[in-house]
Amino acid sequence: MHIYVATQLLLVVLATVSAVSAHIKIAYPALRGPNVAANQPMFCGGYNNTGTRVPFPLSNGFVLFLTGHPTWTVGIQISTAQDPSSFTDFHTSNGSDQLAVPYFSGQGPQRCIPVNVTALGLPGVGDGSNVTLQFVEDATDGYLYQCMDLTLSSTFMIPSDVQCTNITALPSSTTSSGSSPTSTSQGSGTLGSVQISAFLGFSALVLFLSNLL
Ligand SMILES: *[C@@H]1O[C@H](CO)[C@@H](O)[C@H](O)[C@H]1NC(C)=O
Ligand SMILES: *[C@@H]1O[C@H](CO)[C@@H](O)[C@H](O)[C@H]1NC(C)=O
Ligand SMILES: *[C@@H]1O[C@H](CO)[C@@H](O)[C@H](O)[C@H]1NC(C)=O
Ligand SMILES: *[C@@H]1O[C@H](CO)[C@@H](O)[C@H](O)[C@H]1NC(C)=O
Ligand SMILES: *[C@@H]1O[C@H](CO)[C@@H](O)[C@H](O)[C@H]1NC(C)=O
Repeated sequence: MHIYVATQLLLVVLATVSAVSAHIKIAYPALRGPNVAANQPMFCGGYNNTGTRVPFPLSNGFVLFLTGHPTWTVGIQISTAQDPSSFTDFHTSNGSDQLAVPYFSGQGPQRCIPVNVTALGLPGVGDGSNVTLQFVEDATDGYLYQCMDLTLSSTFMIPSDVQCTNITALPSSTTSSGSSPTSTSQGSGTLGSVQISAFLGFSALVLFLSNLL
């Protein structure tokens, strides 16, 4: 079945990527510009100027993050500048990062990171405000960046086909190379190929693979 094959491919790609150089993928919301893996170490993933703004929930948003790193440290900066074009635009007045999500560590290939802009209490920021998020991974091979230009909305709902789910571990290659059965069960411990495909969605998985390769 093609989804099972894709999971096997994902395992191979993740192993390859972590052995060479790892990259990240933001599956949601839309990025400032098409993901160019080689430019991820640069400000906003290589895009200095604001792209098309997309609507984003004011209070109950999330960022869906995929990575080839087995463990990681990430955070999300926020800028209220209309055209944030340098790291300084993501700083507070005292020069520290202005954070929508404080840096935290985790593991696994997919993490849904809740973002509640209302809770940040940024002066003048509310329904209809333009903000930009800069996702940062503090990777073993350096910092990686991706930017999302947003217009906040108190009524916008994230499309229901974007699944906010975490995957903290892939099935080990020894169990997943078996003839099949257990990988399709809904066990609470390891994740089977069917569960992974449900979490990622096949198109997100294909996108992820095409951006890593
Ligand atoms: C973005 O800005 C940096 C710093 O000014 C510059 O080195 C880089 O070439 C710029 N990138 C593009 C794509 O213009
Ligand atoms: C800088 O400002 C932020 C909030 O804007 C605050 O959390 C942080 O503690 C400040 N840092 C210093 C060194 O004053
Ligand atoms: C977002 O933060 C606001 C203010 O702290 C809070 O009232 C609201 O319940 C939060 N929303 C979610 C979805 O967590
Ligand atoms: C938000 O940005 C758009 C362009 O992307 C602009 O047309 C609009 O006026 C901005 N809104 C605010 C409140 O600044
Ligand atoms: C995913 O993990 C984060 C912690 O990093 C947590 O805040 C969030 O609620 C989790 N989401 C789901 C859908 O389990």
